[in-house]
Amino acid sequence: MRAALVLSFALLAVAGAFRPQISQDHDAYLLDAQEQPNEAFTAWRAEYGVKYNTSEEHETRFSVWKDNLKYILDYNTEHTSHKLGLNRFADQTFEEFSTTHLGLLPEAANRPASDKPFRYANALAPNTMDWAEKGAVTGVKDQGSCGSCWAFATTGAVEGVNYVKTGELTSLSEQELVDCDSKHDMGCSGGLMDWAFQFVIDNGGLDTEKDYGYWGFGLPCNGLRENRTAVTIDGFEDVPHEDEVALKQAVANQPVAVGIQATPALQLYRSGVFDGDCGTTLNHGVLNVGYGEENGKPYWLIKNSWGTWWGDKGYFKMERDTGGKGKCGIATAGSFPTKTHDNPTHLPEVCGWFGLSECGFPQSCSCALNFFDLFCFDWTCA
Ligand SMILES: *[C@@H]1O[C@H](CO)[C@@H](O)[C@H](O)[C@H]1NC(C)=O
Ligand SMILES: *[C@@H]1O[C@H](CO)[C@@H](O)[C@H](O)[C@H]1NC(C)=O
Repeated sequence: MRAALVLSFALLAVAGAFRPQISQDHDAYLLDAQEQPNEAFTAWRAEYGVKYNTSEEHETRFSVWKDNLKYILDYNTEHTSHKLGLNRFADQTFEEFSTTHLGLLPEAANRPASDKPFRYANALAPNTMDWAEKGAVTGVKDQGSCGSCWAFATTGAVEGVNYVKTGELTSLSEQELVDCDSKHDMGCSGGLMDWAFQFVIDNGGLDTEKDYGYWGFGLPCNGLRENRTAVTIDGFEDVPHEDEVALKQAVANQPVAVGIQATPALQLYRSGVFDGDCGTTLNHGVLNVGYGEENGKPYWLIKNSWGTWWGDKGYFKMERDTGGKGKCGIATAGSFPTKTHDNPTHLPEVCGWFGLSECGFPQSCSCALNFFDLFCFDWTCA
């Protein structure tokens, strides 16, 4: 009885000392975590629902987490314009993280310069732009433990140009790209946005997220879903290399897929304009959705694909106008789809689960065999 009382008192004290970090001043939270790492690690695991199977695993992860905490504390004292934090990747080394959460192939850097004239060369670019605010950007998605960043950067750019041309925001399928776009791209083992744009053009369009949802691992291509080309594009173009003025002109007109070099600091990024050390060896594809200035520092506004719990609600800001290849190589591999034709109408309706059946227009799905109106086992078209 006494032991139980003491224990629950201790638990209460822990819960009191370590509320989830979201509700707290993060600098204070990090210092508390340094003082009481055991309690903070327990609270961190509770906050992100992290469980380990064995005590060895627990010890290993705790040790990595403490290393990351030390890295974050040192880093934050040396940088003022951006901060790192104990996010849900804090129990992974960058080596582990980078094998599962990036996925831009090195070929991104070797693409030839575009032979087409840059269509936005004479475009006026306003001082600030935020496509998310304009409603052209779908909610932040999560690639999970799959090197499919390239697929998310691709859908983001196609969603963007579709919004600009039609005024409609339609979330599109990364899983279709992971499963079906296998000529050059390699699913969870990596790919390039330009190859994926080419796939969408050759395929006559891309299906929606709703019809062909994301699983986070490669599956056999669903041909029915692949044939349901909800949103089309007509071409794609590369932004002139090493030219942040051109990149600004492009982003002023539509969201642009870009390659960057992701670093350990980006893994643990929390807020502000990232101006830390970084190379230009591209390894991650993301979506450039705007630009602006924060405390006198120009930035690009970037939508990432590491979930809403990462970074600044899933976004980050990257220093802009640093010259040459740009911060983390952001000015080296920008590209965007082009769209002139309308999307097809009269698409088939998808029935049931897993998108394995559908009814062609004008028929629609009707349940042929159901279980107390709760479950449908079989569908027909009517
Ligand atoms: C724990 O075990 C399950 C089932 O064996 C496995 O799928 C999961 O990846 C393991 N988790 C960790 C963190 O090792
Ligand atoms: C997809 O469309 C192509 C061309 O119309 C057709 O040959 C193929 O059978 C379709 N695939 C499925 C699974 O319906």
